[in-house]
Amino acid sequence: MTTVAVVPGDGIGPEVVAEAVAAVDELGLGIDFDVLDGINARTYRERGAAMTDADFDRVRAADGVLVGAIGHPSVPDPAYGRGVLLRMRFELDLYANYRPVRLLHDRLSPLRDPTRRGIDCAIVRENTEGLYAGIGGALRPGTDAEVAVDTEVSTHSGVTRVLRFALSAATRSVCMVDKANAVESGGGLWQRCWDRERRTRPDLETRHLYVDVAAMRLVRDPDSFDVIVTNNSYGDILSDLAAEVGGGLGCAASANLNPETGAGLYEPVHGSAPDIAGTGLANPVGAVLSAALLLDRLGHAGPARSLRAAVRETVEAARCTPDLGGDLDTRAAGAAIRAACR
Ligand code: NAD
Ligand code: IPM
Ligand code: MN
Repeated sequence: MTTVAVVPGDGIGPEVVAEAVAAVDELGLGIDFDVLDGINARTYRERGAAMTDADFDRVRAADGVLVGAIGHPSVPDPAYGRGVLLRMRFELDLYANYRPVRLLHDRLSPLRDPTRRGIDCAIVRENTEGLYAGIGGALRPGTDAEVAVDTEVSTHSGVTRVLRFALSAATRSVCMVDKANAVESGGGLWQRCWDRERRTRPDLETRHLYVDVAAMRLVRDPDSFDVIVTNNSYGDILSDLAAEVGGGLGCAASANLNPETGAGLYEPVHGSAPDIAGTGLANPVGAVLSAALLLDRLGHAGPARSLRAAVRETVEAARCTPDLGGDLDTRAAGAAIRAACR
């Protein structure tokens, strides 16, 4: 029996994850879901921690974990997200955050030039180091003399393994993105590892861009990218940018992976969207396409393809939520995807 842990989380998280779970159920693959619905901002407010060790053991024991979104305006403390999402990413050592973007329909592209719309790329985001390593602190906090330091960590092994993942995920090209012209030590390390690793794939086009120019190019020539590999924070930012260029944040899916252990956490790229929670406006496509990435990793490539085809068909027919030009609510959009799977 395959078991998938589910962490619906906050805001629109439970709304979109319900549609992803229903879509997987519809495919009849005998997958069992272990839903951890107490991991949310309310639990954090009441108990000072949202995820217990027992919760984490259930996540660890599962064959994969599907997450909605973690975060709520009532809990500005970053310790909440660190104790849930970042805990799973770090303790399960999910070092490659794979965030594919593929334009679902021409009408969704904010790009005016129709020749620039062949968007089909992926951001591979280093997921366990960088500015997220939690190394740093504040001197004299709350005073006029406050100094805050957050250290950006890059290790030879961490950079090497994510570059190798990116090179293995590409079919056409890989673009390494850093800020080596300003960030000296980490930049140098990324550059040296890249120079070595890229030579292992002479069949691929390999190139390098600084992150500021990469942002510009993603808007100007998004069709020129296949795989982009970058550090944790640049990957966070560029994946929201790529998502919007590729049809909207509500469509963007992600997989947080460790190919060596087989562990994986799947989640839409977007957050808990408190501005639309409870209105039925949440687009379930990012969550459903994240479930398709989960099915790929569980060895169900055929059903994953059916799910992607069903998403494409409903978006083409505008049987989707208003952000994609439809007039369905979250549940009706999920039902339309399930109907297209049959
Ligand atoms: P957000 O991604 O939640 O929302 C940004 C904008 O996109 C909002 O206008 C929202 O309405 C819209 N949007 C997002 N998802 C949508 C969907 N599925 N359908 C339609 N519209 C959608 O970003 P934010 O407002 O900065 O963050 C809200 C909370 O979520 C914060 O607490 C943040 O830390 C958290 N967050 C969590 C994750 C995660 O769990 N992986 C990711 C990003 C943000
Ligand atoms: C994401 C989110 C998270 C991140 C936040 C909620 C910590 O923005 O998954 O992209 O920055 O990794
Ligand atoms: Mn993000």
